[in-house]
Amino acid sequence: MRAPLPTPLVTVEVADTLRRGVPAVLVAFTGDPVRLGPGGEGVVDLDDVSGKAGATSRQGRAWVVGVGDGEPGDWRKAGASLVRALHADAEKAGGTTFDVRLPEDVTAAAVAAFTLGAAVGGYRFKVSGEEPPKRVKSLRLVAAGAGSAGAGLAEAVRKANTLAAATSLGRDLANTPSNVKDPSWLAAAAVKAARAVPGLRVDVRDEKWLAEQGFGGVLAVGGGSSRPPRFIELTWPGTDSGLPHLVLVGKGITFDTGGISIKPADGMHLMRTDMSGGAAVIAALVGIAQQSLPVRVTGLVPTAENHVSGSAYRPGDVITHYGGTTTEVTNTDAEGRLVLADALSYAVRNLRPDVLVDVATLTGAMKVTLGVRTGGLFATDDDLAGRVADSGARVGESWWRMPLLEELAEDVRSDIADVRQCPPGPGGITAALFLKEFTGDVPWAHLDIAGPARADKVYDEVVAGATGFAARTLIELAETYTQPNTIG
Ligand code: BES
Ligand code: ZN
Ligand code: MN
Repeated sequence: MRAPLPTPLVTVEVADTLRRGVPAVLVAFTGDPVRLGPGGEGVVDLDDVSGKAGATSRQGRAWVVGVGDGEPGDWRKAGASLVRALHADAEKAGGTTFDVRLPEDVTAAAVAAFTLGAAVGGYRFKVSGEEPPKRVKSLRLVAAGAGSAGAGLAEAVRKANTLAAATSLGRDLANTPSNVKDPSWLAAAAVKAARAVPGLRVDVRDEKWLAEQGFGGVLAVGGGSSRPPRFIELTWPGTDSGLPHLVLVGKGITFDTGGISIKPADGMHLMRTDMSGGAAVIAALVGIAQQSLPVRVTGLVPTAENHVSGSAYRPGDVITHYGGTTTEVTNTDAEGRLVLADALSYAVRNLRPDVLVDVATLTGAMKVTLGVRTGGLFATDDDLAGRVADSGARVGESWWRMPLLEELAEDVRSDIADVRQCPPGPGGITAALFLKEFTGDVPWAHLDIAGPARADKVYDEVVAGATGFAARTLIELAETYTQPNTIG
């Protein structure tokens, strides 16, 4: 049995006119009394409607969805819970397309957020021998009288659909179980996704190339598995020379047993999503190329399965990374930083990045620190840190800046190698300090998504399972570099 990939998204379009015979969705804002959007007056019974963001109810053939105070986050929530309600209704033979009646003065940001929520809020991943249930397929957003603002709304919807597709691709890749998903599967999935986008190139390097080039971290981590590692390089050359070059690096561990330092059985199955950082990078490159953004972007995904066998690497090993730096291994479960070290070093030595960003489900410590809805953000550069946090805020992903504590920097030194894999102290921070050793003097940000890459319940536009977290932030971040002279 296979899951149908890619998972179909609800399609969202904007238009000026309502369709004959298509049921309507009306909106309601919180307030005393509740304020209704167009079409609601005299139709909606106010006793049944709170306006609370995401509250849905049905009034005859029409649906009413609450959009709270009308902040973008409220609209995102509204889109998501509306689609979940419509999916449930479609299963019971309800309709599959609806006209959503928006207020005349609705903003582009609100429409974008609503579209994003609607497109990904009903995401479902199930590997099954049964026919998938009937689902709502499309929404038409109608802002009558928006006039010349209509073009802006159409553009907002177009971009939101691209961001949604990136989130969904990230989820699909990370949700795929690890009996199916090995490094060569992930590489093939990247090739397939990129093939649909003109100008996006993918190179996949095998274990032989990795050995010739000296990728000691990737080879050590992947050495215990019968399914060899790969190195995926996606290239979006941009549309012009002289553009800033952004290099994105994503952790691509297709399953993390912990290796010889093996993980406890409880929760180990969740480690099928340990390539979520890599998935976000692949999805971001696709989204950037789809929009033909005028910026140069390279995506690197070192991918390996961290497994246990007679050929597995050991605690106490000393490995040599790409570029020659050596690491004293003390715990084979801290594998992510070893594969990232090779890739960061490859980027610094070969790609002349203006900006370097890595994203990884790196440490359980970060999940404990920030919980499961906020990503950890480390940066050597304030401008870059600000761009990441602001980009995330614009697309509904939140980041919290963490310190690269100077007083712990020395703890990364090893007596028997150049660097020590697992310095003592706060785990998310020491992991970041380890990575920093491989970034040269390139402005660098490290995004630890161990918490938000997965969800165990529904909230906002997120459903249980892989969340696709960070893909949207990376696309939005790339867009900030499309303005001239913006590195500073
Ligand atoms: N993939 C894990 C981190 C992780 C934990 C992601 C929980 C998502 C949820 C990573 O490879 C790991 O095992 N890290 C260790 C590092 C330690 C051995 C220094 C950890 O966090 O325990
Ligand atoms: Zn891991
Ligand atoms: Mn691990």
